[in-house]
Amino acid sequence: MHIIAVANQKGGAGKTTTALNLACGLAARGKRVLAIDMDGQCSLSFLLGMENDRLQETERNVYAVLRGKQPLSACIVQTGSVDLIPAAPALYEADMTISQIGKEYRLRDALKGITDYDYVIIDTCPSLGILTVNAFTASERVIIPVQAELLSLIGLQQLAETLEAIRTYCNPALLIDGILVTRYQSRTRLSRDFMNVLRQQAAAMQTKVYASAIRESIIVKEAQSMRRPIFEYDAKAAVTQDYIQFIDEFEKGVSA
Ligand SMILES: Nc1ncnc2c1ncn2[C@@H]1O[C@H](COP(=O)(O)OP(=O)(O)OP(=O)(O)O)[C@@H](O)[C@H]1O
Ligand SMILES: [Mg+2]
Repeated sequence: MHIIAVANQKGGAGKTTTALNLACGLAARGKRVLAIDMDGQCSLSFLLGMENDRLQETERNVYAVLRGKQPLSACIVQTGSVDLIPAAPALYEADMTISQIGKEYRLRDALKGITDYDYVIIDTCPSLGILTVNAFTASERVIIPVQAELLSLIGLQQLAETLEAIRTYCNPALLIDGILVTRYQSRTRLSRDFMNVLRQQAAAMQTKVYASAIRESIIVKEAQSMRRPIFEYDAKAAVTQDYIQFIDEFEKGVSA
């Protein structure tokens, strides 16, 4: 079972979109996938079909798991081809309420009995607080989506430092699988400067920039507004092909 965190503390980097498409794409390839939504915005839960009122009322979500109120297995919701541990708006309180000794290990411990999946894909929130630390501590690999613009590079150093601290204190085996360029406008405009700085940053983090990159496309937003996987919504779209290529590259790396 491969546990993968999708993370970048910068908002709007494409984390949820990547987690969603990776989860649905792997499931479409016959893999058994569990998605975990660790963001109080609940976007992944919503996109996978959970209704807003359901998200408000249920006590069976990742927040209950992290507080030790529920075993993870009791919180699994079946949504089409992907199983989900939903988020909850109350996750916003997590940095205050999850403060006891061992707080970094809550998710890892909760996942211990779980063996029924080929992949666990964790969507994280735009911060490096206790939720993201739990995701990193539980994971085998991290995927870092980065929006294709210079400003996106600013926070990467801080992310690198956090990941280094996680390796030192919580999860020595954690692998940074790669950096995924998202929402690029056109290959020609993906400036050489941007790619050079990104590659340098990747090298400093002992990782790579994936050869696959995801273009900006209205299809992504359309599919999300219909809450349908892009692979079904528009299988032929260029951006769908981008994600297929990325999943190919990702799977090759995992099985290498
Ligand atoms: N390739 C794309 N083309 C067009 N729009 C995209 C693409 N990828 C993501 N988006 C849109 O950009 C917005 C931000 O993407 P997303 O929610 O995946 O980022 P995020 O990193 O999860 O954000 P947050 O930090 O708020 O959780 C969303 O509205 C999403 O629909
Ligand atoms: Mg998100």
